[in-house]
Amino acid sequence: MGYKDVYASWQADPENFWMTQAEAISWDQKPTRALTSPDTDLYEWFADSMVNTCYNAVDRHVENGRGDQVAIIHDSPITNSIHKITFAELKDRVASLAGALAAKGITKGDRVIIYMPMVPEALEAMLACARLGAIHSVVFGGFASNELAVRIDDAQPKAIIAASCGLEPGRVVHYKPLVDGAIELAQHKPEFTVIFQREQEVAALKDGYDFDWHGFQAGVTPADCVPVEGNHPAYILYTSGTTGQPKGVVRHTAGHLVALNWSMKAIYNVDPGDVFWAASDVGWVVGHSYICYGPLIHGNTTIVFEGKPIGTPDAGTFWRIIDEHKVRSFFTAPTAFRAVKREDPKGEFLAKYDISHLRAIYLAGERADPDTIEWAQNVTGKPIYDHWWQTETGWTIAGNPAGIEALPVKIGSPTVAMPGYDIQVLDEGGNQMPAGELGAIAVKLPLPPGTLPTLWNAEARFRKSYLTTFPGYYETGDAGIIDEDGYLYIMARTDDVINVAGHRLSTGAMEEVLASHPDVAECAVIGVTDQLKGQLPMGFVCLTTGVNRPHEEITAECVKLVREKIGPVAAFKLCAVVDRLPKTRSGKILRATMVKLADSEAFKLPATIDDPAILDEIKVALQGLGYAKG
Ligand code: COA
Ligand code: AMP
Repeated sequence: MGYKDVYASWQADPENFWMTQAEAISWDQKPTRALTSPDTDLYEWFADSMVNTCYNAVDRHVENGRGDQVAIIHDSPITNSIHKITFAELKDRVASLAGALAAKGITKGDRVIIYMPMVPEALEAMLACARLGAIHSVVFGGFASNELAVRIDDAQPKAIIAASCGLEPGRVVHYKPLVDGAIELAQHKPEFTVIFQREQEVAALKDGYDFDWHGFQAGVTPADCVPVEGNHPAYILYTSGTTGQPKGVVRHTAGHLVALNWSMKAIYNVDPGDVFWAASDVGWVVGHSYICYGPLIHGNTTIVFEGKPIGTPDAGTFWRIIDEHKVRSFFTAPTAFRAVKREDPKGEFLAKYDISHLRAIYLAGERADPDTIEWAQNVTGKPIYDHWWQTETGWTIAGNPAGIEALPVKIGSPTVAMPGYDIQVLDEGGNQMPAGELGAIAVKLPLPPGTLPTLWNAEARFRKSYLTTFPGYYETGDAGIIDEDGYLYIMARTDDVINVAGHRLSTGAMEEVLASHPDVAECAVIGVTDQLKGQLPMGFVCLTTGVNRPHEEITAECVKLVREKIGPVAAFKLCAVVDRLPKTRSGKILRATMVKLADSEAFKLPATIDDPAILDEIKVALQGLGYAKG
């Protein structure tokens, strides 16, 4: 069957389509139906089943003869080491860690925060939680204490599992003090922490509160897999919304298993035993779905990459890893390729390696610009498949189903809707737009298995954020068009979320931080175009009357404050003091107009602008930051 037939078979009988895919999962109790409560917008998938994620990702492969197959390759150019773990070893390691967690009282439903760099132990911590039915919430290492504290207060974890440090080029990231700081800041106090000590930095542990990763496993009984209900939360993953309070995306267990397993062949075109590599971080959804769960559930070898596309040691790292570990399908973010392209435009590093066994390269996380796709096509000679999805969906909404049928690539389009997704482009009134016209992208409910059923402890916010604007649809927050062939084009966000190096960040959260500076009376943060990272945040601050300090001093403090409160990942380095912000007569800050001005794009002066002269002042400030030069 080709793509059209598969999509039509899902449309004709979604229940049968997903029940068929569910056969690939090892159930403790098989589901009797796929979709439950279909008449409400709080529907669920495979809710009456019993199943365990860790069993499906690890144990069953050992039982089925894959025990000696490598499950995880840790390739760390930053420490100059490669380490391989087989499925049999992984089972023992995870069962032992889970046993130790259980001995400390972690049981089904307890939350555990994981704050770790790209080491196999991060995956083991996730799998150990899954083994017990505990709900993990992984927090990206580039977030600072304050962001970690916000997540501690929302998820209310019983424990935190962390590493002593992370390693960024040229600097050790001291995780333990960040964890201690977060616990101090948070209202909720976890009962204990588990610290994986790395040789690059051994953290001081508080007796009776901080437990050493190896020490606390000594002498424990390994834990068995605990079957959980299909609608039991597998994890919570926080993502940026429009405010400083991140959204806790919930992932239910059974739908997650079924959807990810299906996607590994249908989209990524790998068979069990193949090596699959997603060069992301476990702190992001790509890391959850395609470094940890997807490949392991499907019986693939996954690569945990601790490094950067360039500088660790050079722009040939991606190609070296693909060659050395015989990677079949490779997934990265366009920004990573832009970095490689900048250093090695002609692909001279690539010439040193053999990537003949690589089938295709997948890009996601941000818009894939045509220049980057064409460059990657030219230097690698491989198909480059853009695909579009979000933390909320957990897997591809629109992509090129290469394992079913490789569709012709149209550069600039992530291709077509995957089975499970009825994608529509709507106008403000919720009417379908004609082909080729721009509108809000929405997905008709129900969303398929594996997507978010709700937000953690925030059902009202879930409804308001996603289900209210277009009744009967899920609002994606992206705008775009669908062409006559059904190909989708993602053009922009419809909210204040920006995308920096494939990382989703909230300008609202940064504004909250700037507003907390004692000298700042008012502020705005916008996302301006950047050749490498796609977008960069840029702040404008108006000072409180009477403040008479040098502006450079204040902007330097603002930059430092965002780094301290949100973290280095915000990449907030552009900030200017201005007298006033451009607003409408009703007081709304004209952020979109400021973005156009910064990017030297043509724009129409908003009819409702209060004082157009302010735009001239903003332009001068932008030029001072190296923008609005065109
Ligand atoms: N822990 C602590 N700090 C981290 C971190 C982590 N896990 N990840 C990033 N940071 C820090 C970086 O050290 C940097 O700090 P600096 O301001 O002191 O230099 C800052 O956060 C910004 O990091 P990053 O966005 O990674 O920028 P970079 O300049 O270091 O590297 C790229 C640029 C393009 C090479 C890099 O962004 C990259 O590899 N991007 C790929 C992104 C990706 O895979 N995204 C996942 C979506 S699928
Ligand atoms: P995240 O939840 O961090 O994965 O970010 C999801 C958002 O990133 C989407 O809503 C889009 O705005 C953007 N995005 C992800 N993939 C793509 C893509 N292939 N093309 C364009 N934008 C993308």
